[in-house]
Amino acid sequence: MSDKLKKEVERESNIVSDKLKKEIESFDNIWFGGFCRSKMGHAAAIMKEEYGVKNDHGKTLIFSKFIEKTIEPYITKDTVALDIGTDGGFWAAYFHKAKSIIGMDIRPAEHTLYFENLKKWDIVPNESLTKYSYHINRDFSCSTLEDNSIDYVFSFDVFCHISLSGQEQYLKNLFSKLKPGANLFIMIADAEEYTSEKMRDQGVGSAARNGITYSTFEDAVNDYDGEPYPGRWYWVGKDKFCELAVKYGYEIVDSNCCKDIVKFSPVIHFRKPGGDNDINSWSYLLHQGDHIYDLKTVEEGYHNQGALRHLCDYAPGVKDLEK
Ligand SMILES: C[S@@+](CC[C@H](N)C(=O)[O-])C[C@H]1O[C@@H](n2cnc3c(N)ncnc32)[C@H](O)[C@@H]1O
Repeated sequence: MSDKLKKEVERESNIVSDKLKKEIESFDNIWFGGFCRSKMGHAAAIMKEEYGVKNDHGKTLIFSKFIEKTIEPYITKDTVALDIGTDGGFWAAYFHKAKSIIGMDIRPAEHTLYFENLKKWDIVPNESLTKYSYHINRDFSCSTLEDNSIDYVFSFDVFCHISLSGQEQYLKNLFSKLKPGANLFIMIADAEEYTSEKMRDQGVGSAARNGITYSTFEDAVNDYDGEPYPGRWYWVGKDKFCELAVKYGYEIVDSNCCKDIVKFSPVIHFRKPGGDNDINSWSYLLHQGDHIYDLKTVEEGYHNQGALRHLCDYAPGVKDLEK
């Protein structure tokens, strides 16, 4: 690489890190108390109902179905679980059966009141509270995590607030921290799912109140790596997210695994290749002969698998939990 090109690359990476630094700092003065209005978390936490909780937009959320789909099958007594953007630990509370649980955020626990809130949700048994720890990650490096240590990653209502370059940093830096076969569930924002006119107008309106003028919602969407403002949304979308995930070595299991549950935002289920899931997938393929299913993405037909069902049982995410 020529000196000129090196300088160019260095300049570009400084710009990116300055931009990301600003993005992180944009959260410093908002959402004190770990109880921000997360679309699911807040409504469900306040109302403590299992089904039919209405969110801020008046839509019904099928709360326990979400937990059954994205959390329960992946948490065992051996799981090391990570919740990115944990805030007051609303979702992390549901991981309490894990071996250890890490809540990660850019704000200190004194700001999110993580440990105080964990007790308030009435989900975590007292004896499990010691399994929880809190990590601050203000540079996307995930440097506080040990290599090859994490089995499960969850993040809801967080990546929608992170620009494309921030998301890329996370995907890149997380990879070595994960065990082979680790499952990740990350909710992102996707303009295609943002079908309500009211929500689109709100997207443009909140940018305007923060000094950024977009003529249309599409302009706001296309600015998926733009300047931050407090609480800003970035509609990075499934395609760009999955492209980056594949670039850094992950496998996509389902790019919209909760499409019937979470109405306006895709939850991407992806994984680090390797581990038991692969072994089970291979033995399944061996038995199945000419009927080659990709065990990791088969959602339907679990009950037709006969004797091979036990292989599906060992490969979470394969069976259809609703049946
Ligand atoms: C809208 S809240 C959602 C909190 C929680 N996940 C929920 O669903 O209730 C977004 C959280 O993400 C955190 N956050 C924003 N950018 C982040 C980043 N780059 N890394 C980790 N956390 C981040 C914020 O501090 C905030 O706690």
